[in-house]
Amino acid sequence: MVMRVGVLVSGRGSNLAALLEDAARADAPYTVALVLSNRADAPALARARATGVPALAVTRDGFASRAAWHGELLRLLREHGVELVALAGFDQILHPVVVAAYPERILNIHPSLLPAFTGTLRAQEAALAHGVKVSGCTVHLVTPEVDAGPIVAQAAIPVRDDDTVASLSERILAEEHRLFPHAVRLFAQGRVRVEGRRVVIRA
Ligand code: GRF
Repeated sequence: MVMRVGVLVSGRGSNLAALLEDAARADAPYTVALVLSNRADAPALARARATGVPALAVTRDGFASRAAWHGELLRLLREHGVELVALAGFDQILHPVVVAAYPERILNIHPSLLPAFTGTLRAQEAALAHGVKVSGCTVHLVTPEVDAGPIVAQAAIPVRDDDTVASLSERILAEEHRLFPHAVRLFAQGRVRVEGRRVVIRA
């Protein structure tokens, strides 16, 4: 049985594309069962639909509260039998009702080496401005506190003297596309154990 993964997106969807590509491999222990976007015009939705994966936009309009809106996301995840949730460029803080429904089963990818440069959608720019010599990306578990959950996997890259935000972001993104499918596989293979803040991976 392969694990059913739900992916939440807001934009471009290059990390979603990496997951879809990996899930299509013969040895993949997971399938992308559902893609949800909080924006109707997210290019990520078209990427999902092109591969035949159900992809729905659920915008804020028409919901009385954030709780009701995210409650609908949760209802859809459950309806599609989603066991693991991957936030792939989802620009919303998930309502606690969703976080509580998937304990240690929601992953986010962040374009910095956490705990550096949290809580910003422009972490690469912040890293460059700070003058760090090494940056990268992190896949972590989602907890109520933003970008603070236990770290599942990280990839580091050197920052070059001539880097721009664009060039640094591009090299980090290449690592994201490798790291996120890797982390999802670890969960789908049942190799992850969480001990407090530490995530232990069985070989
Ligand atoms: C990525 O840089 C990811 O780390 C961050 O948002 C961006 C999403 O890009 N959370 P994409 O939509 O996957 O191309």
